[in-house]
Amino acid sequence: MKAAVYRRYGPPDVIRIEDVPTPDPGRNELLVRVRAASVSAGDARLRSARVPPGFGLVMRLAFGVTGPRKPILGWDFAGEVAAVGSLVTGFAPGDKVFGARMGSHAEYVAVSTNSIAAMPRNLTFEDATTLVFGGMTSLIFLRDKAKIQPGERVLINGASGAVGTAAVQLAKHFGAVVTGVCSASNAELVRSLGAARVIDYARQDFTQSGETYDIIVDAVGNCTFARCKRVLSPGGRLLLVVSSLGQTFGAMLRPSRAGRKVLAGVGATRAEDLRFLGSLAESGAFKPVVDRSYPFARIADAHAHVDTGHKRGNVVIAFP
Ligand SMILES: NC(=O)c1ccc[n+]([C@@H]2O[C@H](COP(=O)([O-])OP(=O)(O)OC[C@H]3O[C@@H](n4cnc5c(N)ncnc54)[C@H](OP(=O)(O)O)[C@@H]3O)[C@@H](O)[C@H]2O)c1
Repeated sequence: MKAAVYRRYGPPDVIRIEDVPTPDPGRNELLVRVRAASVSAGDARLRSARVPPGFGLVMRLAFGVTGPRKPILGWDFAGEVAAVGSLVTGFAPGDKVFGARMGSHAEYVAVSTNSIAAMPRNLTFEDATTLVFGGMTSLIFLRDKAKIQPGERVLINGASGAVGTAAVQLAKHFGAVVTGVCSASNAELVRSLGAARVIDYARQDFTQSGETYDIIVDAVGNCTFARCKRVLSPGGRLLLVVSSLGQTFGAMLRPSRAGRKVLAGVGATRAEDLRFLGSLAESGAFKPVVDRSYPFARIADAHAHVDTGHKRGNVVIAFP
């Protein structure tokens, strides 16, 4: 099969499309023919080895010191089941599914049933794959870490990115009153996703506004507790989706500060959460936001666009 392969860390042109062996699904796995996948901020970080401060060594120990140990990038995908392992129930060849598996920038992935779900009937492959990266991250931070409640005031910093567009919609779904921080050109998009108010980061620093919030989600990486505490209400939670190693340890060791909480980390993909996101998309409560779609052969161009740090929602690659 064809796969997008990188043998060293670096700019988008380290990526080559090569022939590699098609994976063999285990007895508990499915073989999925990938039809679309995101090129996410996470993929760009792994490709370039450009990670938040302090994580450089951790990242290289986990993914390869001198070059990537696993040469195929990609995390999420949407596609069709091509084959099922002997112990798999509930899926059959031809079913449309979406989910997560490292190495999804390839024509096929072998994946466990724990990290896939049936694709929402109303979505294209390109739309469906975007539910995973921003959707899972926002769900884990808002629902599981912050335990978001109806009526809470939630600010999303970086509301126009993949995580931000998902977080705005999920916070709104959970009954929160949402303020989005983005540039003027993305204000209408963020409003259309459910934000009651939008702050243009080029004109106003939300930490100086005097407004307070029960939850602040930072999907940009420019928030610290010291900077945000004056606009975090008592009992408020600061969710650091992007955090340095020091902030991540700080959040683990001392989450409670002055009657407020700082929460960071990562979460795992679960089939039940994918089903939840899929049902929201099917009901129209969650709209996929696709900035650009590139053919698989132009995956390096997709990476270059992600590298700008200014994509709107998600960038996807489509397979022929
Ligand atoms: N902890 C985890 O498990 C986890 C999971 C997923 C992602 N992440 C991290 O979360 C971050 C966000 O991911 P993403 O995919 O959402 O990123 P992204 O899509 O690349 O974010 C781009 C968006 O950020 C906006 N932006 C840039 N500078 C801004 C600023 N100063 N204030 C407000 N908005 C700004 C841009 O808007 P303009 O073009 O208008 O400037 C653009 O729409 C990444 O660093 C990623 O690595 C962490």
